[in-house]
Amino acid sequence: MAQKIVAGNWKMNLEKEEAFDLVNQLNEKIEESTVRVIAFPPSIYVLPISKMSQGKFDLGVQNFYAKSAGAYTGEISIPQVKSVGGSIGLIGHSERREYFQEGNEFLKEKVDAALENSFEFIFCCGEPLEVREVGEELNFVKKQLEESLFHLSAEQMWKAIIAYEPIWAIGTGRTASAEQAEDMHANIRSWVEEKYNEETAKSVTILYGGSCKPENAKELFACPNIDGGLIGGAALKADDFCAIINAF
Ligand code: 13P
Repeated sequence: MAQKIVAGNWKMNLEKEEAFDLVNQLNEKIEESTVRVIAFPPSIYVLPISKMSQGKFDLGVQNFYAKSAGAYTGEISIPQVKSVGGSIGLIGHSERREYFQEGNEFLKEKVDAALENSFEFIFCCGEPLEVREVGEELNFVKKQLEESLFHLSAEQMWKAIIAYEPIWAIGTGRTASAEQAEDMHANIRSWVEEKYNEETAKSVTILYGGSCKPENAKELFACPNIDGGLIGGAALKADDFCAIINAF
């Protein structure tokens, strides 16, 4: 069965004291649950947060580079992330695709690097509004998966976590309806089944992201193919984030 996850992507928000304050609140407020919680703070905070952590959540980075070391100014590598307490990274967030021109081939290299380094990853996919408006969202998302993820073996695919984040729902307050999200998630699972097998499809975790809030989390998480959420804005407030965790 797919593991249930609620992950918080803090993006480029919070200065040091604010970040530490949020961590203290999370340490206090996250209750024992069967849901795995992950925080993706800005990477410069991973080391101090790993020291503050009480084991209630795993720590990850919002971005990393596929090479292990060398002359790549401004980048951070997986071994570096692991050495400061990070165990998982986001790959292919739409903001990286849009503002930093990260394409499917480049993202595939990160997927391979993560697997080579025994580093977990959440692979993000999702369509822009103009694609949904012409009814092409399934083809668009399938292509993202085919070009960056579906070269993996079944055994490797078991380790993948997918996040569907429709771009038109990110930071806009306009969530995908539970029906729209479930439809895409069911399709993603069926493509994994077609490409691999039923067991692999059942085991792959598929998260939803895009204006997920305490008010809509319950309905989204009740859908059979939605295994949790990748939360942006609402992850910056401990009460909201914990309410989303508790929505399971
Ligand atoms: P919001 O929850 O702010 O819409 O962001 C979603 C997201 O991009 C998480 O990665």
